[in-house]
Amino acid sequence: MRDGTILEARNLTKRFRIGNRDVEVLRGISLKVQRGEFVAVMGPSGSGKSTLLQLLGGLDRPTSGDVILDGEIVSQLSDREATHLRREKTGFVFQFFNLIPLLDVYENVALPYTIAGVDPRHGAAAARIRDVLEMVNLVWCERNRPDQLSAGEQQRVALARALVGSPALLLADEPTGNLDYATGGEILNELWRSCDERGQTIVLVTHDARAAAHADRVLVMGDGKIRDEIQLGRRKDSGAGPLIARLAQLGL
Ligand SMILES: Nc1ncnc2c1ncn2[C@@H]1O[C@H](COP(=O)(O)OP(=O)(O)OP(=O)(O)O)[C@@H](O)[C@H]1O
Ligand SMILES: [Mg+2]
Repeated sequence: MRDGTILEARNLTKRFRIGNRDVEVLRGISLKVQRGEFVAVMGPSGSGKSTLLQLLGGLDRPTSGDVILDGEIVSQLSDREATHLRREKTGFVFQFFNLIPLLDVYENVALPYTIAGVDPRHGAAAARIRDVLEMVNLVWCERNRPDQLSAGEQQRVALARALVGSPALLLADEPTGNLDYATGGEILNELWRSCDERGQTIVLVTHDARAAAHADRVLVMGDGKIRDEIQLGRRKDSGAGPLIARLAQLGL
């Protein structure tokens, strides 16, 4: 089954207990993402974007509702099975690159293999690592440690690590939030290319319209719900003008 829905959320809620008070951060979120689609999730700070992404990627569990990832209902899995599914199906990229400082670039990208007990220096694993390092243009620095790289290069390492296992779903939480304008643009182009050329499914969380403009579709969150949905379609020109105009029409 190559076509169709890869990710579905059904009526997700999430409550956090803060002191003696319950705060309902997500209040009934339903969505579907098609295989090969690039979806952006926008919304103001504190609107629950990161919380939603964590639920979609199985890093946390909803208070109620279901996440269905590639046909598996995550809430019906044990913690162990859910962890296995997450490792097999998802790749994460975060705002703070989360690289391991003592490992070099190659070893950081190889981490998913190392965790799975596969020798990353030989065979198919080595070939795949070389492949993604080439994809993000990092072969030249594979022996460098993260602190010997620029911020944009570090984020490309994180992207390579997220993609190395060929995940069905790439989840990115403000991956350009810590980068300057030009470097952020490079990362976004990299994401867009992995989607357009390799059919990578992407869910990107951002409060930046310029980043969201790379997506096929934008979901706008507010008050713990999806307030609006903006269809942009796949296009080579990722100018943010049309999206900003639509957001303005919606009063955002
Ligand atoms: N583990 C937690 N415990 C308690 N409250 C939490 C927890 N995680 C998130 N929250 C609360 O949930 C709300 C939404 O947080 P979330 O990080 O999802 O927002 P966001 O939309 O990603 O914001 P930002 O754009 O600033 O990253 C916030 O008010 C936050 O304080
Ligand atoms: Mg966030």
